[in-house]
Amino acid sequence: MKIFKTTKTTKEYLKNNKNETIGFVPTMGALHDGHLSLIKQSKEQNDITIVSIFVNPTQFLDGEDIDKYPHKPQADEKICEIAKVDVLFVPNEKKIYFDQETKLFAPSIKAYILEGYDRPGHFDGVLQVVNKLLNIVKPTFVYFGKKDAQQLYLVKNMVEEFFLDVSVVACETIREANGLAKSSRNTYLSKEDTLKALQISKALNIAIKYVQKGEYDAATIKTKISKQLKNLYIYYVEIVDKNFNYIDKIEINNTIVLVAVNINNTRLIDNIWL
Ligand code: PAF
Repeated sequence: MKIFKTTKTTKEYLKNNKNETIGFVPTMGALHDGHLSLIKQSKEQNDITIVSIFVNPTQFLDGEDIDKYPHKPQADEKICEIAKVDVLFVPNEKKIYFDQETKLFAPSIKAYILEGYDRPGHFDGVLQVVNKLLNIVKPTFVYFGKKDAQQLYLVKNMVEEFFLDVSVVACETIREANGLAKSSRNTYLSKEDTLKALQISKALNIAIKYVQKGEYDAATIKTKISKQLKNLYIYYVEIVDKNFNYIDKIEINNTIVLVAVNINNTRLIDNIWL
């Protein structure tokens, strides 16, 4: 596995691999099985797989502690090596950002609801860095998890609007055997917190059952979910279509049910696609 720390070395290496398809998995490290499933899918579909690890400062808001973000460089490197990643790109901040630079603003409505409502500006930072990374790596396919559904939607749109020559692949959420969606943030949870967090997937499964029984009223489904989460601090329980418009009626194959809660100062998100 090649490890590159600069955009220059990464670009030079890729220039010499002109005829091969490149699969790209952008991450902020603290890799887990969710990332591994993206890597696996990339390896199946491409000649070369590149993983980037960059804890992007611009997607953290003032007051959000970037230094608290889990940082496991050695373990991450080992995981990538075992997964037979071809290139690990680990740039430092100065190699990615410039002193005075052009800013990218995510579309105001879709980026300032849900996650963007509680974290205004977060998606500006996400798009800024993803745009840069895509321009450095110039992948054939880029892999994102459906768990970060709003991020996935906004990245897909940016790729279309900026005419970027890459296909965005949406990958299924990977869960623990107990249903908890895999997330780097799960490392913050104590045993007791984890037990509380299990309510989230339980609530979403209850929603699936109601929909299977023919209940398509969004307000009713949201109430059922909120009831199950009654002991947690809820940021939102919302139902949108795949373009992130709020909807009143669930439409099969065009609905995402999203939940965000706070457990002991850890923000956890999850969703189901119906
Ligand atoms: O989902 C993430 O880990 C980050 O938001 C991403 C896409 C790597 C951008 O920093």
